[in-house]
Amino acid sequence: MAEIVDFIARYCTLAPPLQTRPVVNRDTFKMNRMYDIQSSKSLPTIVENGATTTVAKLSQERVLPIIYLNQELYENLGREKDKLAPLLNQGDLTRLRNIANPFEVIGSGQYGNRAASKLASINTIYDLFPRDRDILVTDIAGGPGSWSQYVLTNYPRAKIIGISLQRVNSYTNWNREKYGLSDDKFEAFYGKISYSKGGKGDLLEYWEEFSDYVRNKGAVDTVMADGGIGEEEGVNENLQEQYNIPLIFAEIVTGLRIVRKRTSVEGGNMVIKLYDLHTSLMGDIILIVNLCFSRCVITKPITSRPANSEKYLVCLGCNSENDTNPIIEFLSNKLRLILSGTVPHYFFNHGDQLFYQYLVGLNTTFGNEQLQALKSIISAKDDPQVQPVKYDLSLYCKIIGLRDSDTEIFL
Ligand SMILES: C[S@@+](CC[C@H](N)C(=O)[O-])C[C@H]1O[C@@H](n2cnc3c(N)ncnc32)[C@H](O)[C@@H]1O
Repeated sequence: MAEIVDFIARYCTLAPPLQTRPVVNRDTFKMNRMYDIQSSKSLPTIVENGATTTVAKLSQERVLPIIYLNQELYENLGREKDKLAPLLNQGDLTRLRNIANPFEVIGSGQYGNRAASKLASINTIYDLFPRDRDILVTDIAGGPGSWSQYVLTNYPRAKIIGISLQRVNSYTNWNREKYGLSDDKFEAFYGKISYSKGGKGDLLEYWEEFSDYVRNKGAVDTVMADGGIGEEEGVNENLQEQYNIPLIFAEIVTGLRIVRKRTSVEGGNMVIKLYDLHTSLMGDIILIVNLCFSRCVITKPITSRPANSEKYLVCLGCNSENDTNPIIEFLSNKLRLILSGTVPHYFFNHGDQLFYQYLVGLNTTFGNEQLQALKSIISAKDDPQVQPVKYDLSLYCKIIGLRDSDTEIFL
């Protein structure tokens, strides 16, 4: 926290509007954990006829090999996550979450929910949206809509096409009124109406149709994808990574198909939510995406709950069509295979030591921090006197361009 407080004190006594905020670099903004992906820049050898599992098994038992975290930390995390699960239904959940996350209270003010504060943090550092021209943005798995609301509020020249699962009476359905998603700026894509795979707007059903539709409208400057089935939906946290692989992979492949490729104009950007990155397959997915952009980073914004596994993949400057087309075709075929039910354990033979060390290092750092956060929440359960971390949220909100009038401030 000290780094941010220093940074704020130096640069942000007055709230700068988002357009004129100070340039933030990794040294001055360290508390948003950020790690540039490191790997060799050539396609690894593809595994033919390797081990596979089924999509159904991903949600039932641990099947994909855990290769990017040491066993002891993996098991410790698993135990603490199991202890947290029953607390999620308790009355003092908010107090418990505040214990580890001083940013818990952000979100009910300027934007409709706290997801916007994560995008705002990431965008403050990485400038995801070009400002000097009309831009096309997609919001994948973006309901109810605070990410789109953030973009439309700060980038008047943006138009957005969104796709998100629409379920009966669900608070995650697009909410145009609450999030200010006007018809002239925001279009929701639902796909052909079919209830065979869970209803309208299901990316797993419509990813190809959606990519074709968007490509007809133009190249996408920024792809956003915040999808996930998580703790709130009752997914066992220890299977969350596996369970979400088809959705995350569909988001990445869809994003790659529609994002602007480099020409005389710079290539587009993507921001995609991830969970744990412990399994062989998740590692392979990250490794190959890194080949398609000039820079890829895995980051956990400080507004993301420290006790959860959520992280974001930020991809900047997509390479040219020539460079990316063969990779996109390879990945599209793998996605078709996975969505037809067969999940390979690996895409590649593992020979990339640089990437292996990178991902193990990142997982160890994130894993240890998450473990501490989980332990502090769990110990606070039996001690009502434990207080949340004290932190000046008002100043942080100014940096990331959030109005904090409705935010309770701990000073
Ligand atoms: C964390 S919420 C997104 C929050 C959003 N970024 C915001 O700011 O309001 C995750 C979303 O993923 C959506 N989702 C989950 N599975 C999906 C699927 N198969 N296809 C499309 N959307 C999906 C959920 O319906 C939910 O709206």
